This record gives sequence, structure tokens and C-alpha cells, in this order.
Amino acid sequence: MEFKKRGQWGSTLGFLLAAIGSAVGLGNIWAFPYKMGSCGGFSFLIIYLILAALVGFPIMVSELALGRHTRLNAIGAYSSVKKGWGFVGFLAVFSPFVILGFYTVLAGYCAEYMALNLSDLAFDLQGSGIVLDGASSFDTMLKSPIGAVIFALFIILVSVLIDKNGISQGIEKFNKIGMPALFVMLVIIIVRAVTLPGADVGLKFMFVPGYAVENGFIEQAPNFITVLATAGGQMFFSLSLAMGIMVTYGSYLGKKDSIPNSSVNIIFADTLVAVLAGLAVIPAAVANAVRNGIPYNEIKLSGPNLLFVTLQDVFVGMGKFGSVFGVIFYLLVLIAAVSSIISLMEVINTYFVDRAAAKGKTPNRSHIVMTVGFAVMLLAVVVALDGLGSNGLWVPGKSLGVSGWNDCWLDFFDCISEGIAMPVGALMTSILVGWVIKPKWVIDECEESGHKFPCKKFFVFAIRFVVPIVMLLILFGQINEFFKLGLLN
Ligand code: PHE
Repeated sequence: MEFKKRGQWGSTLGFLLAAIGSAVGLGNIWAFPYKMGSCGGFSFLIIYLILAALVGFPIMVSELALGRHTRLNAIGAYSSVKKGWGFVGFLAVFSPFVILGFYTVLAGYCAEYMALNLSDLAFDLQGSGIVLDGASSFDTMLKSPIGAVIFALFIILVSVLIDKNGISQGIEKFNKIGMPALFVMLVIIIVRAVTLPGADVGLKFMFVPGYAVENGFIEQAPNFITVLATAGGQMFFSLSLAMGIMVTYGSYLGKKDSIPNSSVNIIFADTLVAVLAGLAVIPAAVANAVRNGIPYNEIKLSGPNLLFVTLQDVFVGMGKFGSVFGVIFYLLVLIAAVSSIISLMEVINTYFVDRAAAKGKTPNRSHIVMTVGFAVMLLAVVVALDGLGSNGLWVPGKSLGVSGWNDCWLDFFDCISEGIAMPVGALMTSILVGWVIKPKWVIDECEESGHKFPCKKFFVFAIRFVVPIVMLLILFGQINEFFKLGLLN
């Protein structure tokens, strides 16, 4: 198919915002800040940045170059550069599908919480004596699967409508408005959060090395290998690597754009938002918990509990205007989630668009996007009905009698994607680029833009040696964590 018909980003900024939109997601908000606090504060940030430079940067550059050179979807790109490597592309299309199964449900939960806070504004629920505290709201929501299904389907529908309009008119347009809006809302929340009385304890938890252990937030400091594996796992999930996303987005990139510069910008923006998200959530969560007499070690500072229990309590605790901040905050998270969802879906859409074109047909994008959306809905309905295991649905892992992992459908999908398929995919990409097609292939593609590739030696060394070793460690760390093997304690 002609390149023009396939679509292209309207501008470099548009592409950057779309890639940043993909990278910025729930991981930045509910995982990074807590991991930073509990794994050494400021020193975790340094380790994270070193890993992002040594591992995230080379993989991102390679994925974007693979996409731009081949002008193909992930499966097409991997199999066309080297016969027999299409399976890496397959993993990169399979993972987004599985992740969408739960990510859309989580986004639906954010929409439900936004609706809750909106309802309070509209009907003064709290004034009428209705309790909106985090724990009971979360419990009620999980046990109301019909609501969860409807909201998840709504999110998928919205994402389908965005993707249907294509790369520049759909994805790029959404992010061009969504990303600046997200940033502004984040700043509003930060200003409110850090001026709450007692916010300094949360700031110290996040930044001061050792503070979390000394003050009893966590029992024991994690060892260095655990910190490395945690930072590494967080880094490549957060940068949306090994998901076919950068290959797909790269395939719509113009030849004039500098791939290394874009990669640095994406990594920088993603990390910045992760730290800023920490400033928005941790100080407020700690301050409010202390006010309510909750001991440090019992404050839930990560995952769904942070978002849907601790922070809802923060907004309730803010009094009259709390619900306004609640609406702003959950809308912000929703935008972050939707911009990631549309990128995940586009990996699959692009595959089917290219496949139709390869068969000599004229691809019908709308039809493809709706079919993919429908398939995602099937997975999402299971996860939504399951309600994080609250509703007693049969779950694959649990049925094997192994307790502690795969306790719910979300864990199961997360385990096969984030736990196994993604690290294996990234490992394979580094072997393909480092040893099979050779790093020069990527460097040549990047230099097509007319910019010199910066620090070539660094790139070659990193992609050949550092990335495979670190990816093995991350894979080990993920398997250890997902299967609760306890090998790193
Ligand atoms: N990067 C997103 C986050 O941090 C998650 C994501 C992963 C989105 C992979 C798309 C693809 O939450």
C-alpha cells in the first residue's frame, strides 16, 4: 500500500505528545511514586534514570527505527527484517490485547470515581448524610459488576471512536488536547496537595533515602537486586516498551524526525510526570492518613488501593471543595489511561490494516477498529465481572491451587503480559538488534533524518550487552514477583 494512504503524524510535536500519552498512564501515578519512596527515595530516581538511559533508550530507539524503516505493524516489521523473528512481533501484538482486557476496566473505575465526585457536587450526597469514604465506595463498586461492565464498555467505545479517525486526525488530535490538559490538572492538584498541613512527611517519604524504613512506612529496606529489578520493571512498562507501540507509532513517523532526540524527550517527559504525580498523591495521602490516626505502615500508597481508597478519602477529608478536586484528579487519571488505551489498540488495528493491504484489499479502518474494540470488550467484561476477585469468578491460576498469584482475572492477564511476554519481547528485540541485524542497521535508519546519531558506541554497547543482561534480571524479577517465589528476599 502506498505510504500516504497508510497515514502519518501531522507534526513532530503531535507524534511526541502521542508517544508521551502512551507512556504516561496508571503506572506513573499508582506505581512509580510508591516504588520511589519504598526503594530508596532520591537514589531510586537516579537508578531509574540510569536504567532508562542504558536500557529504555536503546530499546525505544530500536523499536521506533524498526517501525519507520519497514513502515509496517509490529508483526510485519519483525518478520520483514529477519525471517523467523515474527514471533517477537506476535508477542508485541498479543501483550497489548491482554493488557487492554484489564486496563480498560481500571479506566472504567476512574470514570466511576469521577462520576461519584460529580454526583456529590450535583446532589450534595455528603450533605445528605451519604458516606463516600474510599473503602466503602471501592467495595460497593467492585461488587456492582453491571456498573463496571458499562463503564469499561464506555471507555472502549470512546477509544474506538478516537482510533477510528486515524493517526493524525484521531490519536494525535486527542493527545494534543489531552496532554496539556493533563499537565494543567496535575499542577492544580499538586498545589493543593503540597500545601496541606503535614504534607512534608509524604515528601520526605518520597525523596529522602532511608526515610521510609526509619519511620516505619516499610519494615525492611529492599536489597540492591530487588531495587534494580523494581526500577527496571517499572521503567519498561512505563515507557510502553515491548508492546509493539513504538514500532507502530514509528511506522507513521516521517524521515526527517530525529529518533534519538524524540526518545530522550519521551523518556524525560514520562519520568517528569511520574515524579509530579508523586507530588500530587503521596503528600496528600500521608497527610490525610495521619490526620485520621492511621499508622504509617497501614497507609495504602500504591495500586488500586491508592487510587480508589486512600485518595478518595483525601478528597472527602478536604471538605466542601474536595469533590471538585476529586473530579479534576479522576479526570486526569482517565485521560492518562485513555491515551495509553488508544496506543495499545492501535498496535492491533495497524496489524489488521497492513494485513488487508498486503492481501491487495483496501483496508476498512473503521471496520477493523470496531472489530478489535469488540474483541477487547469480551476480555474486559470478564475482568469487570470479576471485580478484582470480589465476585467469586473462576480464575485460571487460582484453580491450580497455587495461592498468592493470579487471585483474580486482572492478575492473570497482567502476569502473562507484564510478567512474561513483555520482558521476553524486549530481551528478544535487543538480541535481534544487537546480534542479528546489528546495531548499525538502527543507526543508519536514524541517520536518514540527516542528524548524526549521538554516542554511537554507547548505543552499540548498551543494546548488545547491557540490555540483554538487565532484561534477564527484570524477567527473573517479574517471575519472582508474579509467582511469589520469594527468591530475592
Ligand atoms: N505506560 C503505561 C503506564 O505507565 C502503561 C502502558 C503500558 C500503556 C504499555 C501502554 C502500553 O501506565
